[in-house]
Amino acid sequence: MTVPALFQPLTIRSVTFRNRIWLSPLCEYSAGRDGVPTDWHLVHLGSVAIGRAGLVMAEATGINDVARISPHDVGIWTDAQEAGWKRVTDFIHSQGVVAGIQLAHAGRKASTAPGWGADYEDSANAEQGGWETVGPSSLAFGNYNPPVALDIAGIDQTVADWAAAAQRALRAGFDVLEVHAAHGYLLHQFLSPIANDRTDDYGGSLENRARLLLRIIRAVREVAGDDVPLFLRVSATDWTPEGLQPEEVEHVAAWAHEAGADLIDTSTGGIQSGIPIPTGPGYQVTFATGIKRTAEVPVNAVGLITDPHQANEIVETGQADAVMLGREMMRDPHFALRASTALGYKLPYWPEQYERAQP
Ligand SMILES: Cc1cc2nc3c(=O)[nH]c(=O)nc-3n(C[C@H](O)[C@H](O)[C@H](O)COP(=O)(O)O)c2cc1C
Repeated sequence: MTVPALFQPLTIRSVTFRNRIWLSPLCEYSAGRDGVPTDWHLVHLGSVAIGRAGLVMAEATGINDVARISPHDVGIWTDAQEAGWKRVTDFIHSQGVVAGIQLAHAGRKASTAPGWGADYEDSANAEQGGWETVGPSSLAFGNYNPPVALDIAGIDQTVADWAAAAQRALRAGFDVLEVHAAHGYLLHQFLSPIANDRTDDYGGSLENRARLLLRIIRAVREVAGDDVPLFLRVSATDWTPEGLQPEEVEHVAAWAHEAGADLIDTSTGGIQSGIPIPTGPGYQVTFATGIKRTAEVPVNAVGLITDPHQANEIVETGQADAVMLGREMMRDPHFALRASTALGYKLPYWPEQYERAQP
């Protein structure tokens, strides 16, 4: 039987993904203020592992105590958080699935109301579990509190915190590390002229705006050694002439690849609210393909990929090396099982417990 492109394994460094259907990181706002993953994370991510995705990528996880998007996001800077994640990765591994974690710092978009369940909007105050945010500059995002611009010592500490978080992630059992530099969070804030008006070595030219990101990629690569795949999520465009342009992000991707990133997870947008984004099926795939061709680096596509045939075609035609699915995997954590059936492929690693459900 020919194996559809979507189900062909992919090896990056020492890790082999059994297929190219990957879970996109999804904030669940389901931790307490301590940032420790809960039963929700175990079951949410565990279901996708049962559903046989090639990679289960855990959500944006704060690298230090000012990095989380909301007071109900997960973190990876304490022993308790590390232990909580170990429970999750143990289960994912028991299903023969690769576990990844997105290491994140929300910068000026940190300390905000969680995506659901809050009785306030915008920034969280101290009573609501909030904190003073940091950013490249003191420019605020919308109605959020303005951040404190990081000084050089603060930048150095952020690099060190990212490396320490990577170390904890590996101890917690993660096989893949992803640096989050998309969606208007800290590293995207440094990259984009919309959020960065610094006049030192970290602002101005593209090289300067990319400096912090590249320092972090190098620091995480040093922790990861030669065996662990390192992904980088970027926003390939700010969707406005004032912002980051696709050609600039292609340069950044090439530099990041040289610095130790193995794959570019290509998303878009998020630097500012109110910028219209022309969404539609697979609307970000061309940006992934652009980075793949120009920066000569493996990529995954993400964004409104919802159909097995659509997903297979993206991989088969070489537009991307893998696809990530977010909302479709929330609707159906067993999407990979369903896709194998839709593509006429008898999945050899269908879960035994579910054997009687295999068509
Ligand atoms: C509830 C929700 C939470 C998300 N959390 C994250 C996140 O933690 N990190 C991230 O990079 N993107 C996050 N995203 C974006 C998704 O990973 C994905 O890129 C986006 O939803 C587009 O893919 P889709 O059309 O398959 O959902 C989130 C999206 C949703 C809907």
